[in-house]
Amino acid sequence: MEKLQAALDKARRSRNERNASSETNPVTPKIQDNTSASLIARWQALTPFEVQDKHLIRHRVVTRSARKAATPFDILRTKALLQMRQNGWKRVAITSPMPKSGKSTMACNLALGLGRQNDLRSMLFDLDLRDPSVQNFFETRPPHGISEMLSGAVPFEEQALRYGENVAVSMAQRAEADPTRILLAEETAEKLDEIQATYEPDVMIFDLPSVLVNDDSRAFLKNADCALIVVRADATHYGQFETCQREVAEHTNVLGVVLNAYRHDKRAVETA
Ligand SMILES: Nc1ncnc2c1ncn2[C@@H]1O[C@H](COP(=O)(O)OP(=O)(O)O)[C@@H](O)[C@H]1O
Ligand SMILES: [Mg+2]
Repeated sequence: MEKLQAALDKARRSRNERNASSETNPVTPKIQDNTSASLIARWQALTPFEVQDKHLIRHRVVTRSARKAATPFDILRTKALLQMRQNGWKRVAITSPMPKSGKSTMACNLALGLGRQNDLRSMLFDLDLRDPSVQNFFETRPPHGISEMLSGAVPFEEQALRYGENVAVSMAQRAEADPTRILLAEETAEKLDEIQATYEPDVMIFDLPSVLVNDDSRAFLKNADCALIVVRADATHYGQFETCQREVAEHTNVLGVVLNAYRHDKRAVETA
C-alpha cells in the first residue's frame, strides 16, 4: 500500500511537471502538422468498424440514434460536456465502488451519444484490464490489445478502431495479469498525452475498474481530469459509495455520480 502511494505521488508529480513544462515551454508534438485537413486525415486513417443496432440494444447501448431510451444518456452527455468545457477538462474516467455497476454500459452509451455530435471528436479507452468488455458491447475484436498500444509495441493508429467519423475506440483483447503496472506506468501517461496531441479529441473517456476491489483505478485516476462515479441503485451500499467518492476525490475531480438501475416505483408515489 505504501509502495503504491509512493508510486502514485511520483506519478502525480511527474504529470504536474509535464503539464507545467508544456505551459512554459510547449513540447513540439510528434506530428506537427495539425491543420484541420491533416487532423481529418489522421482520423480517417483509423480502421472503421460497424455494429448492428440490435446487438447494441441487447447490451443496453441505446444512444446510436436519438430516441426516447437515449434521453437520460443524452442529458448526462450534455451536462458532462458543459461542466468539462467550463473547466477545460478533456479526460473523464468512469468508475464505481464495485463491479457490475454499469460502468462499461455507461461508457459505451456516452461514446456513441457523443458520436452524434458531428462537431466533436471523442475517444473511448477500455481500461478495466481485469475484466475488459468493450469488445463484447461492440461485437468487434480489435487487431491488437490496448496494453500493446499503451506500452508502445503497436501504434495507436493500428490498434484503435473508428466508429463513424468521430469516435475512436481502443479496446482490450483479453484480461491482463498485472493491470496495476500498466495503469501506473509513466509510458502509459506519455502515450495518452501523445494521442491527445495527435488527434485533438474533445473528450477522452476511460472505462476504469471499480475502486474498492483493487488498486487499478487509483493507479490511473491521476491521468484523468475528472471522474464519473456509477452506483447501482439495487446493489451499491451507501458506505461503499462514500468510500469510493472519498478515494476518487483524492486523485481527481468528481464530475458527478450516476445512479444506475433505479426503478422509479410509480405506485409508491401514488399512494404516498
Ligand atoms: N440500468 C440497468 N438495468 C439493468 N441492467 C443493467 C443496467 N446497466 C447495466 N446493466 C447490466 O449489468 C451488467 C453489468 O454492466 P456493466 O456495464 O458491464 O458493468 P461494469 O462495467 O460496472 O462491470 C451488464 O449485464 C449490463 O447489461
Ligand atoms: Mg466494465
